[in-house]
Amino acid sequence: MKNDEIRDSYLKDLDNVKNIKELSDIRVKYLGKKGIITELTKNMKDLSIEEKKEVGKVSNELRNELSNKIDELETKFKEEELNNKLSNERIDISLPSTKIPMGAPNILEKTIEEFEEVFMSMGYDVVEGREVEEDKYNFEYLNIPKGHPARDAQDTFYIKDEDLLLRSQTSGMQARVMQEKKGEVPVRMICPGKTYRRDPDDATHSHQFMQVEGLLVDHDISLSDLKGSMDIICKKLFGEDTETRFRPSYYQFTEPSVELDISCFNCKGKGCSLCKQTGWITIAGAGMVHPNVLRMSGYDPKVWNGFAFGFGAERCAMLKYGIDDIRTFYQTDLRELKAFDRKDVK
Ligand code: DAH
Repeated sequence: MKNDEIRDSYLKDLDNVKNIKELSDIRVKYLGKKGIITELTKNMKDLSIEEKKEVGKVSNELRNELSNKIDELETKFKEEELNNKLSNERIDISLPSTKIPMGAPNILEKTIEEFEEVFMSMGYDVVEGREVEEDKYNFEYLNIPKGHPARDAQDTFYIKDEDLLLRSQTSGMQARVMQEKKGEVPVRMICPGKTYRRDPDDATHSHQFMQVEGLLVDHDISLSDLKGSMDIICKKLFGEDTETRFRPSYYQFTEPSVELDISCFNCKGKGCSLCKQTGWITIAGAGMVHPNVLRMSGYDPKVWNGFAFGFGAERCAMLKYGIDDIRTFYQTDLRELKAFDRKDVK
């Protein structure tokens, strides 16, 4: 074939090419080892120098032109292929989607977070305690020495001998925080967390439950500071029309000690099954920090005083959400949990 014929031939081939496969056949046909253009240079050794130059030049031109055209077409085919792929695999957003089930915040955690928010807004720190606690923090620094009868009501699970236990109350964090603060004031902390007791489980008792402990130490703190603070907190947590009432009580680590009741939001004080016809519901223990407790953790009770309190977290959540069995929190029964799914997510 003459040079011009070769050129016409591949231009024609390129005109008809439909895909990458055909393109690569063309490459082989002209530029392969036995390709038409390659053949042109096969018999060069028999030619004169002048002819060699000429044939070399022409075959190079043809080779370059053809390879460029093939490369161009190859890029074009690849782009087309990609575009096809993109448009074929496009997601059709008009189709109804598969429903992905949404989780919901655990209501006990949610209740605790509400406590945290209210207390933080009042300048309290949120601290984390330890569930495995030493006897001295769970009892002794709280004015409950070994052999004290108050220990009977707080029998718990022992990890090692009698000295390491699963805490029966979060109150031990009062001593830990004061000792860490080393006399610094004010002390303002809450500590939410799990507690344990050797109680048989029933609708209102669980061997595992949560408390929200609190402590404030400063100077000239009075019982009315405690009452005022608790009143604000209960209104924030249970609604502005909530009333509070304080009844005398006894705890070893507070003196005087009180029991904190809120007006029953179910019957507004008239009396119903929730408040056992009394119009009031007990949600926390509290009191003025006992001088011994301050002294044992490095605060001189002649200079400093304060108040402490402990809310039952499940009790608050049960009241808020109308749950009548504490075991609901720990059974992870999906049907129960679903009842409290986020109402805002359909
Ligand atoms: N720790 C007490 C309990 O488990 C609750 C409590 C009462 C905590 C009075 C306090 C307090 O800080 O002052 O029953």
